[in-house]
Amino acid sequence: MNVLIIGTGYVGMNTGVVLTYLGNRVTCLDVNEEKIALLKQGKSPVFEPHLEETLQLVRENIKFTSSYAEADIPNTDVVFITVGTPSLPDGNADLRYVRQAAESIAENLGEKFTVVVNKSTVPIGSGNWVEAIMHEHFQNNHNNGEKPDFNVVSSPEFLAQGSAMHDSFYPDRIVVGSQCERSVERLQELFGPLLRQDFPAPPALPRPEGLTEVPLLVCDLTSAEMIKYAANAFLALKISYVNEIGRLANKVGADIQAVSKGIGLDKRIGNRFLNAGLGWGGSCFGKDTAALVATARDYRLEMPIIESARAVNYSQRVLAVDLLQEKLKILKGKHVALLGFSFKPNTDDLRDAPSIDISKLLIQRGALVRAHDPVALTNARSHYGNLGVVFCDEVGEALKDAEAIVLVTEWPEYRDLDWESIPPVPIIDGRNFLDKDQLEGLGFPVIGIGR
Ligand code: UDX
Repeated sequence: MNVLIIGTGYVGMNTGVVLTYLGNRVTCLDVNEEKIALLKQGKSPVFEPHLEETLQLVRENIKFTSSYAEADIPNTDVVFITVGTPSLPDGNADLRYVRQAAESIAENLGEKFTVVVNKSTVPIGSGNWVEAIMHEHFQNNHNNGEKPDFNVVSSPEFLAQGSAMHDSFYPDRIVVGSQCERSVERLQELFGPLLRQDFPAPPALPRPEGLTEVPLLVCDLTSAEMIKYAANAFLALKISYVNEIGRLANKVGADIQAVSKGIGLDKRIGNRFLNAGLGWGGSCFGKDTAALVATARDYRLEMPIIESARAVNYSQRVLAVDLLQEKLKILKGKHVALLGFSFKPNTDDLRDAPSIDISKLLIQRGALVRAHDPVALTNARSHYGNLGVVFCDEVGEALKDAEAIVLVTEWPEYRDLDWESIPPVPIIDGRNFLDKDQLEGLGFPVIGIGR
């Protein structure tokens, strides 16, 4: 099929590369010309394991452009909207890029039936809004009474950064929100190889053992939009739940890791997303929980569980700094090394990263902060250059003269540091990730979260 992807962020790039790999002709469009220039050279504008190498495999069948005319919408079967929807200060999503994409698609529609799939996370009810904008814009541009032939579908994306390629080839489910038969049939065909899992697995991304099919859930558009928010809010709740239990574990002398394991073995609960620590960051959980609360407010509805999950999450960042202050007594003038700056390993993304709040709090309390990250320093320097943190390319530089260490992101290489050669100082292990016994054996006081 001919596919157009609008927006080349994580979701757009992964969708584009995977659909090309599955045999479609794909065009990726972005209004940001710098991104397009990079992509034309085969380079990904986002850091994501296996993305660039899979892009190399499909380069002949994928095109990049900034021009809607070049994107040839009249001959496109499916258009995906995968543009950003950042948070506004009141928690609502900023939909200006979705609007621009919808208007541009409408302007360029041809005579053929076009399926427009919204993969950007938009507030519940936005599918109808996109459709209305497209109709209005089409009429404004075609005075001859012509009727456009398109349908807007919601198919939310569930990929997680750092494992996005794997999640896109081997999803847990595919959701299609539409009551239009033609659209559902077309998407069933497009997603067919993923649903049947009958494509040859890319060399670097072997198929999980036993995966023979992926379930397809077809529902109405609003429910599909809601599934995305409800799934992310539930995962966020799970993390905040374990962090709240961790606070009590710390008081009563229990170990949250043992507690998590014990509850996670109950199949009804499951063992994933029960790691206590600094809580969630990233582009989705914070934004989506805020948007859900904001949507509920429009209907004069409270969402106390989700609001509490947010409060618990952001207080974990303060907790880490409090724990350090309790240990060192005085933070003023102390050299603190932060290990990790990205919101999680295998990404250079700093959106809502705990490292930023922790740095701010430490600096407010008088500490001198040096930070290392294996891949996020370019982003850190360009977005947070004036935070007051010294960003260090070498981890040894960050650790030099450190009087305390805070592990913020669980990059595997931090576990493998030559700890014997590092003078023992208190460590706040924000992800309960380091080898506590080994480090304590070397004389490091290790303070985990909820232990
Ligand atoms: C998330 C969802 O997982 C994904 O389905 C959705 O499409 C986008 O949002 P992502 O933000 O990329 O993906 O990362 P995820 O692996 O879910 O982690 C989010 C945050 O939660 C990270 O900061 C991580 O460190 C934290 N986390 C995760 C915990 O603190 N504890 C856990 O047990 C799991």
